[in-house]
Amino acid sequence: MKLKRLTEGFFIVFEGLDGSGKTTQCKCLRDAFRRAGIDTVFTREPTDGPWGRKIREIAAKGRDNITPDEEMSFFVNDRRQHVDEVIRPALDAGKVVICDRYYYSTIAYQGALGLDRAEIRRQNEVINVFPKPDLVIYLDIEPRRGVERIREQREGGANVGYEKEEFLKKVKENFDAMDDYNFVKVKAVGNRDDIAETIVEIVRDRLGFDLH
Ligand code: TYD
Repeated sequence: MKLKRLTEGFFIVFEGLDGSGKTTQCKCLRDAFRRAGIDTVFTREPTDGPWGRKIREIAAKGRDNITPDEEMSFFVNDRRQHVDEVIRPALDAGKVVICDRYYYSTIAYQGALGLDRAEIRRQNEVINVFPKPDLVIYLDIEPRRGVERIREQREGGANVGYEKEEFLKKVKENFDAMDDYNFVKVKAVGNRDDIAETIVEIVRDRLGFDLH
């Protein structure tokens, strides 16, 4: 089934657990568009704007002094600015936008912190506030593998332990429960190039782009 075009441009979102390889796969898809002569706008959440910086500060210091509701409001404020300043103008100009994380992360992560997932979704899907993506590619990985990858890749990753894995298990359950029509699950184990090829096929089939 082909997805209906929702905006002038195309909006593709990558979601997945920490360590699922999202950022790498975003770049591979961007390269595939580039080979086809199509420029994309590549962006991410949390952003590098004021709210995004605040979120990273919290992530570095720990969540001790902040409630889940406050944390969620930071993500939503960051997204509002991101949509207004980057995503919507690009879509209105007919561009392909590739975004590393979006509000499905809020449902999965802040939901794992105990907030009501239906309520998070409601706040993020209020008509005309945040555009619904044409396609969400969810990179499906086991929490243990994600934690291993973080340890391998990041400085300070050795500190990533059991607690993180337990949290990611809850996050994964929340992602697994998503069955939106625009949501495609891709097994993110194995060879990077094979996964990239699978994603290119999905984008070709669902959105009609002539990518290779
Ligand atoms: P991200 O920058 O994607 O981390 P990385 O690419 O280094 O894995 O995301 C940072 C963290 O923010 C990640 O653990 C997920 C979390 N997050 C939320 O909890 N809620 C949200 O709405 C978003 C966008 C991210």
